[in-house]
Amino acid sequence: MNPTAQRTTTPAGDPAWLVSDYDTVKRLLADPRLGRSHADPDAASRYSESMIFGRPYPVSPTEAADHTRMRRLLAPWFSARRMEVLRSRVQRLADQLLDDLAGGGAPADFHEAVSFPLPALVICEILGVPYADREDFRRWSDDAADMTDQARSFSGLAALWQYMTGLVTTKLDDPGDDVLSALVTAHRADPEDLTLDGVAQLGAALLFAGHETTVAAIDTGVVLLTTHPAQRDALRRDPTLVPDAVEEILRSALPVPLEHTDSGPSHGLARWASADLDVDGITIPAGDLVLLGLQQANDDRWLVGDRPGFDIARRPNPHLTFGHGPRFCLGAPLARLELQVLIGTLLDRFPALALAVPVGQLQPRTTLLTGGVAPLPVTW
Ligand code: HEM
Repeated sequence: MNPTAQRTTTPAGDPAWLVSDYDTVKRLLADPRLGRSHADPDAASRYSESMIFGRPYPVSPTEAADHTRMRRLLAPWFSARRMEVLRSRVQRLADQLLDDLAGGGAPADFHEAVSFPLPALVICEILGVPYADREDFRRWSDDAADMTDQARSFSGLAALWQYMTGLVTTKLDDPGDDVLSALVTAHRADPEDLTLDGVAQLGAALLFAGHETTVAAIDTGVVLLTTHPAQRDALRRDPTLVPDAVEEILRSALPVPLEHTDSGPSHGLARWASADLDVDGITIPAGDLVLLGLQQANDDRWLVGDRPGFDIARRPNPHLTFGHGPRFCLGAPLARLELQVLIGTLLDRFPALALAVPVGQLQPRTTLLTGGVAPLPVTW
């Protein structure tokens, strides 16, 4: 049997530990000795060249308090009640995008026509960001997520922050009913606790997290359903299966052949150990980088049993795609809402949806942290 924690190499070429069995990944996700900061960030192993999650932050005395405040300020915006209110709006947006897709005729690029615009429109409305600026923030987000080119990632993140700083400044004079305005109000109440720079950085992080990840999940869902036509048809016949199908899409990796070798770099959620850790008898020294293999954990036999492939009837489905513990994804209810509305409507409107190219010709976005596939040519 393989040891629970194995030595590996990150996409940046640095040494790390990889943990990939379900129980250990879940346990370590909630372990406070694993975090995003490091006592000596310049000497630490890097995960990738991206400025987002690629390297640790310096240790800060306010780290825990900042995190608690962030969750307290944001959680109400993603509550179950808010999501219910939002459902009809997301439905209207999805209907409109699918009308436009149909109107343009087949074949079409689903990524461009639907996967990107739906989450982008929704997060723009929630945050109070003009959708007209989408081409700019999309480019900066892609740049920031580049795992191979540090200069590109740095300039993307800097542009995103600068853009947010400008937007947040306008909210000072002209607030709306949106997350950025609420953060500006919190800043006014206690400017030392939450600076305007802090608001802009949080806004940039939300704009990034709020669209890129969900875009990739929608792409994955379309590829999975079109390459499993029997399950696509079963789902169309019985829409009550949509929530389970969405969980299975979230659990599954993009089913596109990747150029992967066993000696290649490992992927996972990057955490740095602030103390020595014992993982099933293996000591991970303080300062080391640990990659929590969410995808491997989702494919663990403990979870999938003897039905390893894509299975929309899987239940229960306790996947770790949104993480676990104190950093569990705040936007999970929103991502679920968007996927459920879209997948449900899509199969109703396009019962014969199919890929317009062989699956092996799709181009996975392997150099980007968030993945996905673009373009995604479909026909119907
Ligand atoms: C399918 C889509 C999504 C996936 C797969 C995803 C995945 C994740 C994961 C794995 C984490 C945990 C990171 C960690 O433990 O270090 C996380 C955190 C987070 N996500 Fe998502 N996410 C998605 C959508 C969203 C959306 C729509 C938003 C809305 C803005 C969002 C906002 C956040 C925030 C703010 C955090 C930080 C939570 C914290 O540090 O306490 N995510 N997400």
